[in-house]
Amino acid sequence: MAQEDNFKKIVSHCKEYGFVFPSSDIYDGLAAVYDYGQNGVELKNNIKEYWWKSMVLLNENIVGIDSAIFMHPTIWKASGHVDAFNDPLIDNRDSKKRYRADVLIEEQLAKYDEKMQKEVDKARKRFGDQFDEAMFRQTNPRVLEYKQKQDALHERFAQAMQQPDLQELKQIILDEGIVDPISGTKNWTDVRQFNLMFSTEIGAAAEAASKIYLRPETAQGIFVNYLNVQKTGRMKLPFGIAQIGKAFRNEIVARQFIFRMREFEQMEMQFFVQPGTELEWFAHWKETRMKWHQALGFGAENYRFHDHEKLAHYANAAADIEFRMPFGFKEVEGIHSRTNFDLSQHEKFSGKSIKYFDPQTNESYVPYVIETSIGVDRMFLSIICHAYREEQLENGETRVLLQLPPALAPVKLAVLPLVKKDGLPEKAREIISQLRFQVNCQYDEKDTIGKRYRRQDAIGTPYCITVDYDTLKDESVTLRNRDTMEQTRVPIAQLQEIIQEKTSITNLLKQL
Ligand code: GAP
Repeated sequence: MAQEDNFKKIVSHCKEYGFVFPSSDIYDGLAAVYDYGQNGVELKNNIKEYWWKSMVLLNENIVGIDSAIFMHPTIWKASGHVDAFNDPLIDNRDSKKRYRADVLIEEQLAKYDEKMQKEVDKARKRFGDQFDEAMFRQTNPRVLEYKQKQDALHERFAQAMQQPDLQELKQIILDEGIVDPISGTKNWTDVRQFNLMFSTEIGAAAEAASKIYLRPETAQGIFVNYLNVQKTGRMKLPFGIAQIGKAFRNEIVARQFIFRMREFEQMEMQFFVQPGTELEWFAHWKETRMKWHQALGFGAENYRFHDHEKLAHYANAAADIEFRMPFGFKEVEGIHSRTNFDLSQHEKFSGKSIKYFDPQTNESYVPYVIETSIGVDRMFLSIICHAYREEQLENGETRVLLQLPPALAPVKLAVLPLVKKDGLPEKAREIISQLRFQVNCQYDEKDTIGKRYRRQDAIGTPYCITVDYDTLKDESVTLRNRDTMEQTRVPIAQLQEIIQEKTSITNLLKQL
């Protein structure tokens, strides 16, 4: 409950401080669609810059593209999205609510974890310091019973999804006694498949119009441009193509704020390799991507890999990077070894050869692909959730702050004249005019200095400077640190170097 309350506070903080607004807010919003405000867009752009530079700037064999959202409809037939990009959905006749059958079952699986954890917590209280959790989990009859039930359910569920067997999914829901969270009843309809792609029509005249889709992933734009880039860039294997762009999915269950949206943004990179070397590259990209996340300084304990046991028929390895959100560990990024499935399908459906001629082996072949795929919005959410803090101060007040990594903060430096007169505003503006080419500065002269500090804390500004009467005499300012609230006197001439050193994305990139 405490975590839920915390999450609600984060959502309202995002709105109150110009990070994320519900889309079409004055029309009461549009489900699972959101707009980014003046601070949100800066944070989002910084996340994208960090990702883009880590791919394209740091790797001489990775280049970027920006492909169109609309693509030839056959692409989605070839990729399998027309036939298989479905979610199994089920309705409850009493509440009239629609659910994803697989999500209901996954939640049931998580309930077994909660039950086991409860037993562990009870025993820990009872045995105190001598408690051996691993031994308890291996021997306690109740825990073993829950584990056995969970494993059996997992096995049955995985098989039903693999087929997919919709009747079996419904039967699992009935057998497990899963009830609708709203009506509390088991009055379920049959399970049906629901395609997640949005479609529209292209062409002016109705009779000539043809159905096209809004892309559900950016990856296919990379696959169909693979040969264009390889040839025009004279790329040699292994090499990668990176792209950032919007994707659209008609999600049935769109909950948890910007975690699952109908319009969202992806940062994807397809790395083309020689067949047979893909698992080495898969391991390489798993490690590289984890390092990218951890360089933000949120603590290694908040990340974990989830290696997929059941793989899509075209994949030979897959793992998620999960982050500890207020509602549990959740996927933020997927790393997939997709074999040569996509390229081969496009070769088949387009009738054009997209083979690579390898000058080293004198052979032509369709490359294998490792994909790294991360949602910008989900990354944004993980950062905001981790950064949000309510701190009790020594004077009894509470301050709300966003402890954002300084390199990602929307505003790097707030420039605050102590008073609105005696030449202090002019001096403050003069400082901004010197720094604004390198550093995103914000000027604020309204209210007391204390209130102005709180406003900057709430949007995550790592540094504030106060311009006071001494500034006019000695060309120095008071520099205040967001996290420690420490204040030091520094010469104006050193400001640019100090702020850039602490807040530039370059320093983040140097850790990779
Ligand atoms: N090309 C592979 C692909 O799209 P995915 O696991 O479906 O794989 C990759 O998506 C990432 O995109 C996810 O890890 C997540 O961060 C993000 N993502 C997917 N669906 C999303 C949604 N509805 N809303 C927000 N982010 C989403």
